[in-house]
Amino acid sequence: MGLDKNNYNRGGFLAFMSCMAASTVFFIYISFIHPGINIDKPKIKTEIGMQVAQAAGGAAADMSTNPTPWTSTPEFVEYGKTKYKMNCAVCHGDGGKGDGPAGASLNPKPRDLVEGKWKKSGSAKDIFTTIRDGLPGTMMAPFKHIPVVDRWAMTHYVRSISKNAKPEDKPADLEKFAKGEK
Ligand code: HEC
Repeated sequence: MGLDKNNYNRGGFLAFMSCMAASTVFFIYISFIHPGINIDKPKIKTEIGMQVAQAAGGAAADMSTNPTPWTSTPEFVEYGKTKYKMNCAVCHGDGGKGDGPAGASLNPKPRDLVEGKWKKSGSAKDIFTTIRDGLPGTMMAPFKHIPVVDRWAMTHYVRSISKNAKPEDKPADLEKFAKGEK
């Protein structure tokens, strides 16, 4: 059994070479073929989190005890905007165009509140009752669990961004209706 000089530790050499080959293939795969990990994916969650944080710590004054919530004022609309962002923007979109991240796959789609092609109307009373009762058979759920003052605030906010905030309720009628709402 002749010891061949050229055959010194042949197994080790082959093992080394296959390691090199394997890591080269792996390197090429990772660099050029593997699609990569999408670190953008959690973005939607982060955005919603930020909206909630913004809404919670935002500049709007706390009007949760507004004694006349049926009356729209600029401050109350600002307050309503923070509530809208927390409860509605996920479907209806930040700007109310019906393009929120959770709305894309819904049928029917969330209403474009700016355009305002209503099933009911753009009156404060109709927007309020939609928020209170939802629209049965759709993903527009009732929001009765939200304090009544906050529901009025969102009503005024929706009307403030809508091109179709019609008709106007008679102030006295609206007040009477609102006083019966809890
Ligand atoms: C889970 C998704 C979702 C959320 C959250 C949501 N909506 Fe909707 N909303 C919808 C859908 C879907 C429709 C359209 C239903 C239809 O076409 O019948 C709709 C319709 C509406 C309408 C139209 C009413 C009409 O007469 O046509 C208003 C106003 C409205 N939403 C306001 C709100 C407000 C305010 C909030 C927050 C309190 C809210 N929505 C939260 C899905 C949502």
